[in-house]
Amino acid sequence: ARRSYHEKVLDHYNNPRNVGSMGKNQQDVGTGLVGAPACGDVMKIQIKVDPKDDTITDVKFKTFGCGSAIASSSYLTELVKGMTLEQASRIRNTEIAKELCLPPVKLHCSMLAEDGIKSAISNYYSKNPKAKTTNLGGTGSSMPKIEVETLRSDAPAAT
Ligand code: FES
Repeated sequence: ARRSYHEKVLDHYNNPRNVGSMGKNQQDVGTGLVGAPACGDVMKIQIKVDPKDDTITDVKFKTFGCGSAIASSSYLTELVKGMTLEQASRIRNTEIAKELCLPPVKLHCSMLAEDGIKSAISNYYSKNPKAKTTNLGGTGSSMPKIEVETLRSDAPAAT
């Protein structure tokens, strides 16, 4: 039996979801490129946004890194598809680490995914400054917190 990685990590590692790239010059695409200082691993997250309702309609990733980083980005892409930018900006790495059962030493791998989506969102806003003022009303800090947990219709049962 494999013991070093949880089966959910291996599943995403072996069958990564939404691997690929989108044209980063497209107006409706936000690109986030982040690196982990601790290990040098790099993650690229790209989102395509429907400007009508600020919803993420497509998402792609490329990760040059460890299995946990690949799994974190793969899971992140599943999680954010269909979310609004505001919802996606609230995803925390702890949510990802919990889903994938990452050990403490691998927490920074899930941090890359949180940084990646935030960076992609801010890149989208920098290309579409109007979207931010219209839909977030400034910083958005007064908005109520959403429960990411409740957005998952396919929460896997513990085995
Ligand atoms: Fe650095 Fe996983 S070891 S991202």
